[in-house]
Amino acid sequence: MAAGVLRRATGVLLPATGGWLLAAGRSLPVIDYLSPNPDANLSVQRWAKSAEIKTKLLRRWIFPSHICDLFSIIVNEYDTDFVTQKNHQKFRDMADLRTTYMGVELKNPIILGASSLVEDPAVIQKIERAGISAIIYRSLFEEQIHLEQIQLEDQLGEYDNRNAEMLHLFPEVRHGGAKEHLYKLEKLISKVSIPVFASLNATYEESWEDYALALEKTGIAGLELNFYDIPLDGEHSSTEIEKKQLRILSKLKSILKIPISVKLSPFYSNPVHFISQVDNAGANGVVIFNRFFQPEINTDTEEFFYPFDLTHQKDYQLSLRFAGLLYGNIGADICASRGISDGNDVIKMLLAGADSVQIVSAVYKNKASHITGMIELLEEWMDARGYKTINDFKGKLSMKNLKDPYAYKRAQYVDILMKSNEILKKYPMV
Ligand SMILES: Cc1cc2nc3c(=O)[nH]c(=O)nc-3n(C[C@H](O)[C@H](O)[C@H](O)COP(=O)(O)O)c2cc1C
Repeated sequence: MAAGVLRRATGVLLPATGGWLLAAGRSLPVIDYLSPNPDANLSVQRWAKSAEIKTKLLRRWIFPSHICDLFSIIVNEYDTDFVTQKNHQKFRDMADLRTTYMGVELKNPIILGASSLVEDPAVIQKIERAGISAIIYRSLFEEQIHLEQIQLEDQLGEYDNRNAEMLHLFPEVRHGGAKEHLYKLEKLISKVSIPVFASLNATYEESWEDYALALEKTGIAGLELNFYDIPLDGEHSSTEIEKKQLRILSKLKSILKIPISVKLSPFYSNPVHFISQVDNAGANGVVIFNRFFQPEINTDTEEFFYPFDLTHQKDYQLSLRFAGLLYGNIGADICASRGISDGNDVIKMLLAGADSVQIVSAVYKNKASHITGMIELLEEWMDARGYKTINDFKGKLSMKNLKDPYAYKRAQYVDILMKSNEILKKYPMV
C-alpha cells in the first residue's frame, strides 16, 4: 500500500485495502492528494456520486461489510466526497464504460445534450458530479443574434426620439454579437474537467464559417452542426437543402481542426441516405435526432403560444430504429438522442448500435443524481452479463447483426392488424 500525502484537508484519513480512504466535507481539496511514490501505479480517484453508489463502492472494494456499514453512515449522513487510491486490479474487474463521440474519448456514453441547462454554473457542477461524460453547450443561433440586434436598434431608436443626446453620448453602443455566447462557453470549459462541445446553427454559408472558427478558438472538444431549418414554402427542393448542408459540412471540415458532428432532424425522405453522405463528407459523428418545440394554439385567445414541452418516455423509438439501421454502415460515431429517460433506454440504444446518447428532458425532469442512477444501471447490467466493455455488446441487435433483419423492416401495422382481436379486447370500443 502506498502512502499518500494529504494537504489542507480537514477530514479523517483512514487506511484501507489498496489505498487510503478520506471522509471529509464537500470542500475537500482532492487535488492536493499526492502520491509520494510515482511508480506505484496507483492513482487518485474521486468519487462524487450518489450516497447509494458510495456505499456500494465501499462494499465492493474496500471493507468487510460491518466496517463498511459504519462508513456508509458517515458518507451518507454528511454527504461526503471520498477519495481512494485506485486499486487497479480490482478496478479491472469493473465494466469499462468508455466510448467515443466524434472520436473524442468519453468516460461513459451519457452526454448532456444542448440545452439552456448550461446557463447555470451550479447546475452544471451538479451534473458533472453526477457523472455525465460530456456537455454540449446550447446552440449559437445566428438568427437569435440578428433578432437581438434588431431589438437593440429599436431601443436605441426610441431613445433617439426621446433624447437626441443619447446617441451622441453613446455612439458606440452596439449588440455584442456572439461575444457573450463565446465568453460564457469559454468560462464553462475552464470550470469543468469533462469535454465540452459547442453547437452551431447559422443562417448564411459564410457565417457558418465565421462562427465555427470563433467557437473553435474557445477550446471546445468538437463542434455539433445543428442543421435545424424548417422550410416554410415549397420553393427549395429537398435535394437543394441537402446539398447546401453537405457543402457547409465539407467547408467546415476543411477549415476546422476539431472534430465535427451533425445533429439531424428525422425529416429527410431517406435519413440513412443523407447520413451516409454526411459520413462520406467526413463527419466524425451524427446525432439522431433533434427535437423541436412546436407551436400550439390557444383556443380561448385564438393565438399561438410555444409550450415548454419536454419529451416523453418511448420517444426514443425512432432513434433506436435508426441507430440499428446505421450501425456498421458508417464510420462516424452514432449518438442517439430524444426521449432517453433512464439507464434501460441507454442500454437499448447501445444494443441497437449507438456509441453514446444525449439526454436533456430526463435531466430537467429529474435531479442530477438521476444521471448517476443511469450510469449505475448500465454498469450493473454489464457486470451481470460479463460484458467488460461497451464494444462487447454494442450493435448486438443492429440490423447488421440480427438473424432476423425483418425486425427493422417489418411494418408494425401488419403485425397489429393480425392481432386486432387481442387489441380490441384490451381497448373495447363498445
Ligand atoms: C430547453 C431546451 C433547450 C434546447 N436547446 C437546444 C439547442 O440550443 N440546440 C440543440 O441542438 N438542441 C437543443 N435542444 C434539444 C435537445 O438538445 C434534445 O435534442 C431534445 O430535447 C431531445 O432530447 P431529450 O428527449 O433528451 O430532451 C433543447 C431542448 C430543450 C428542452
